[in-house]
Amino acid sequence: MRKLIAGMKVSVDAKLEGPQGTADWVDAWSEDYGLMPQIDACLLGGGMYPGYEGYWSSIRNEPDKPVWITGNPPTPAELEWARFAAKTPHYVFSNTLTSAQWPNTRFVRSLEEITALKQQPGKDIYLIGGARTTASLIDAGLVDELRLIVYPLIAGEGKALFATTEHRRELELREVEQLQGGLLRLIYGVR
Ligand SMILES: NC(=O)c1ccc[n+]([C@@H]2O[C@H](COP(=O)([O-])OP(=O)(O)OC[C@H]3O[C@@H](n4cnc5c(N)ncnc54)[C@H](OP(=O)(O)O)[C@@H]3O)[C@@H](O)[C@H]2O)c1
Repeated sequence: MRKLIAGMKVSVDAKLEGPQGTADWVDAWSEDYGLMPQIDACLLGGGMYPGYEGYWSSIRNEPDKPVWITGNPPTPAELEWARFAAKTPHYVFSNTLTSAQWPNTRFVRSLEEITALKQQPGKDIYLIGGARTTASLIDAGLVDELRLIVYPLIAGEGKALFATTEHRRELELREVEQLQGGLLRLIYGVR
């Protein structure tokens, strides 16, 4: 079965964003988890989808312009993700959204549809976020691996990755790597 792998950039107190609605400590939203060679589909929540569509559409359409959130022109790694993501099927978990501008994007309406997606033949699936979707898919036992990039920061007020988690779940530490700037890349298997 294809694995569902969540990748998130978090503070030490597991915040995904500050009170203003963005993680201003993250300087690029590139896929920095080493996932590209092993995935051929992306899944994301309806809460984050409009921002995701706006951010990556801006990079695709105007690659020289500063981007919303970071305020900088896209990095080479962000340009690489924009190219990869534009040809990779995206599935948005939502019961309210009905239209999407990002290429090759469809909606999934239930946990059963996500289970069926995992059972289709193919490479692994990258769960891009956001907080509630990731927490609920971990609770449902559908997430196989959690890849975190941890920033050396206690963010305080803001949206926490596991704020809505209901069940205790054991993790198996598989990899630890120290990155530039005091960041840590952690890979956990979810049991
Ligand atoms: N730091 C990072 O690496 C990172 C990565 C990704 C996202 N983010 C942040 O995460 C934020 C979005 O997170 P979020 O928690 O507000 O929203 P979200 O997880 O993106 O989406 C939640 C939505 O998913 C849909 N959904 C359907 N069934 C669900 C279920 N069983 N459980 C949970 N969701 C279900 C619902 O949409 P409907 O109401 O349409 O049915 C729900 O409102 C963004 O603002 C972004 O900044 C950060």
